[in-house]
Amino acid sequence: MVFWCQVVFGFGMQLILLLAVGLVLGQSAQTLASEAKYNYFRLPTALRPQKYDLKVTTHLDNPKDLRFEATVKILIEVLENTKNITLHAKNLTIAEDDIILKDTQGKKDNCVQSTEINTHHDFYVLNTCQELEAGSVYELTIPFASELNNQLEGYYRSSYKDPVTKRKRWLSITQFEPASARAAFPCFDEPNYKAPFIVTLGYHKNYTGLSNMPVKKITPNDQFPDYVWCEFEESVPMSTYLLAYSVNDFSHKPSTLPNSALFRTWARPNAIDQCDYAAEFGPKVLQYYEQLFGIKFPLPKIDQIAVPDFSAGAMENWGLVTYREIALLYSASYSSLADKQRVASVVAHELAHQWFGNLVTMKWWTDLWLNEGFATYVASLGVENINPEWRSMEQESLGNMLTIFRKDALESSHPISRPIEEVAEIAESFDQISYQKGSTVLRMMHMFLGEESFRFGLQQYLQKYSYKNAEQDNLWESLTQAAHKYRALPKSYDIKTIMDSWTLQTGYPVINVTRNYESNSAKLTQERYLLNTQIARAQRLGCWWIPLSYTTQGEQDFNNTAPKAWMECGKEGEIYPKTIQDLPGRDEWVIFNTQLSTLYKVNYDERNWRLLIETLTTGEFQRIHVLNRAQLIDDALYLAWTGDQNYEIAMRLLEYLQREREYLPWKSAFENLKRVGRIVRQTPNFEYFKRYMQKLITPIYLHLSGLNDTFSAIPEQDQVLLKTMVGNWACQYDVEDCVAVARKYYTQWQEEEKPDEKNPVPLNLRSIVYCTSIKHGNDADWQFLWARYVNSNVAAEKRTILTSLGCSREVWVLQRYLEMTYDSKDAIRKQDSMWAFQAVAFNEVGFHLAKTYFMDNVQAIYKFYHPITKDMSRLLLPFSEQVINQSDFDKFRNFVTINRPSLKGLEQALQQTLETMLTNVQWKERNYIQLSRSIQELL
Ligand code: BES
Ligand code: ZN
Repeated sequence: MVFWCQVVFGFGMQLILLLAVGLVLGQSAQTLASEAKYNYFRLPTALRPQKYDLKVTTHLDNPKDLRFEATVKILIEVLENTKNITLHAKNLTIAEDDIILKDTQGKKDNCVQSTEINTHHDFYVLNTCQELEAGSVYELTIPFASELNNQLEGYYRSSYKDPVTKRKRWLSITQFEPASARAAFPCFDEPNYKAPFIVTLGYHKNYTGLSNMPVKKITPNDQFPDYVWCEFEESVPMSTYLLAYSVNDFSHKPSTLPNSALFRTWARPNAIDQCDYAAEFGPKVLQYYEQLFGIKFPLPKIDQIAVPDFSAGAMENWGLVTYREIALLYSASYSSLADKQRVASVVAHELAHQWFGNLVTMKWWTDLWLNEGFATYVASLGVENINPEWRSMEQESLGNMLTIFRKDALESSHPISRPIEEVAEIAESFDQISYQKGSTVLRMMHMFLGEESFRFGLQQYLQKYSYKNAEQDNLWESLTQAAHKYRALPKSYDIKTIMDSWTLQTGYPVINVTRNYESNSAKLTQERYLLNTQIARAQRLGCWWIPLSYTTQGEQDFNNTAPKAWMECGKEGEIYPKTIQDLPGRDEWVIFNTQLSTLYKVNYDERNWRLLIETLTTGEFQRIHVLNRAQLIDDALYLAWTGDQNYEIAMRLLEYLQREREYLPWKSAFENLKRVGRIVRQTPNFEYFKRYMQKLITPIYLHLSGLNDTFSAIPEQDQVLLKTMVGNWACQYDVEDCVAVARKYYTQWQEEEKPDEKNPVPLNLRSIVYCTSIKHGNDADWQFLWARYVNSNVAAEKRTILTSLGCSREVWVLQRYLEMTYDSKDAIRKQDSMWAFQAVAFNEVGFHLAKTYFMDNVQAIYKFYHPITKDMSRLLLPFSEQVINQSDFDKFRNFVTINRPSLKGLEQALQQTLETMLTNVQWKERNYIQLSRSIQELL
């Protein structure tokens, strides 16, 4: 008898698969197992897996029939008497007749009487012949098979082109997080069921097998000619989503840091020379973590592998970390500084997970942020420690905050910690709230607790929950103990009370500071900050526990980030205004939130704003911390956006940028002006905005010597990033010689005899040069770049090109590009398609094409990305930022309503898209005239 756990293939496909797998067909393939009554979203708690023994044979020889067959043996401990075993399984062909159920003490015979499935929750229920008794341990053996799918999830296929033979080489790889281990083997696929795994892989001897643990032994495999069995050591207890294995013909590069676990970096042979950087950086950051956490990396080895087709950026599988090529490979002659920093940050992130996530795992996906927020924050500590000259900690912190200030100002945002009942909801949780907001609140704690107690608290937490699962209350407890031990927090305060206000509530506050210049005091009130201005004040509920740090014009002490006072909340979340005393008189400003340690916006009274503007514009600005300069810009522009301030103040503040030479304030300004620009460029007054931008950008552009290749003379790495960013804006707004110089570089490249080998364009200007030349060029220029794309061997270069190809202003070229993206016969990988789409859709000419294309083809696009809806949600971003009229908004909303039933998994993204569009419409109605006026006054 053959059992179908979930029908996803067409009928013909089922038969082919069955025959190929060679299972005995005792029943028509049309017969389906009956739907189980059990319909709760979690597994029953009567059983617990004690150990898995998984044996998988992988066939990569026939491209038309890439598949695997396997057997899993699970030792199951019975906690409560039960008559069924409920597992997860999905898209597997299970040989039901061959399932064996044994009592390990051999006391009683048992067997499987019947099976049922629950297709919604992927349950596979085995009803047993006899009751399983509490206290006993059973061994369940299940043979099964499936194809190696092409959906980038579960146990799937990937490929690359052999540069010599020009033929495709196939490999297999896993991606299980969050809920796809069940698509590779029947298992208890929830993070709290930790168990050791013994993996054995069967494959042709010309390949290599990799898994979480080192190889134990390789033996001949008599089932298939020239196959071997590769058995790996038994793993430590771990969650199913962290299991990984691969069969491939890759090369590897060993690392050479002493006293570390064996460390290897893998890639397709033709890319092995791009592994040096990750091979050097990985072990360094691993060592730093060992010392930071006071816990050694527990496995004997760690492999990192660059997978040609990969849906996420990277995945932290314990001991076998998988990456997209762009996130692991670095080429000194093709990758920019930003590309290199990205590799460092991704490697640091995944290795941080080896502790936060792998060793200590969240109990349930509700606390996903304990994995992702921590990995994000700890990674920035790691990178900062190894490359302090990058100043990446500041960059990351500001970047995260800029992102969250926007996302979390939407009513449709959600708390860091949120209930999860569906797989689609788990997938949606891998968002900026878990990552960036999670990281931001950890940084906040780090800053208000201080180094010692924060570190000690984390070490305690990691030790206490090693090989176990934790929820956020466990973290709060460890940190409270540490805080009290080191007197970092008053005894009457506990971390849970403070932090629940940040993790259980949606959003963040704005603090209104009203100074009393007579009594040298200030009154502070808080409310939730929202972008949608139609929401009444009375509805902006919420109270946050806020550590208050501040400094004054006389003091100018931006190093002290410890709280001088707290804004507290009542038991029921009541808001208490706070009065701060001993402030200076009417001629000195105050700034709250030194170094932006906490996630809140500040609105001052008008006098304080004017004092700040005076310091900024009269040249003393460098005495204000660079993060606070970025903060002032962001706050002023947001408050103007929502009408809480007038644009006149915000624009006067921006005037100081003519002297600003640091990266962060510019980043903050550009992020905000980008939004405004995307609206105004669709209006008649763009002329003035353009002239304004030229005026703003010219001094810094000239200061950085425009697009001239001065990079070898720039010692500060963040100045390199600044030059790239400014150059990009300068060419977009036609500043000085930017376009001409960019086109000159491009022509030089076109004149090269071997353009794939020799590229005269400076590395850190390539994205600007390519985009500008495509924008102002013709189809021949486009074709030249496309040829470079096809021939490129470096993922970072490919990404840069893919994005630049969307810069054309020819409608037909863009339309052709869109169609190629979704039907390019392999030229553009599925994993990269959203970059091409986004590039077209963010282009003002391409926007309308892309929107129409999306709306006309939404079903096909959905199918294309299925089941990785997260990738599809990225297509929405350009729409959310460029729909600015009520009628276009209404059309899009209707489109969403009509298609909602078939856009499963995109609910959250669609809601946020619609809300953002609405705020654009509001902005245009409220601010367009006002902004145009203040700009004209400044020209
Ligand atoms: N655990 C995630 C991978 C992941 C993401 C699995 C989404 C399932 C769904 C991994 O640690 C991760 O966070 N990857 C990031 C890159 C990282 C450096 C921010 C990603 O994939 O974007
Ligand atoms: Zn992560």
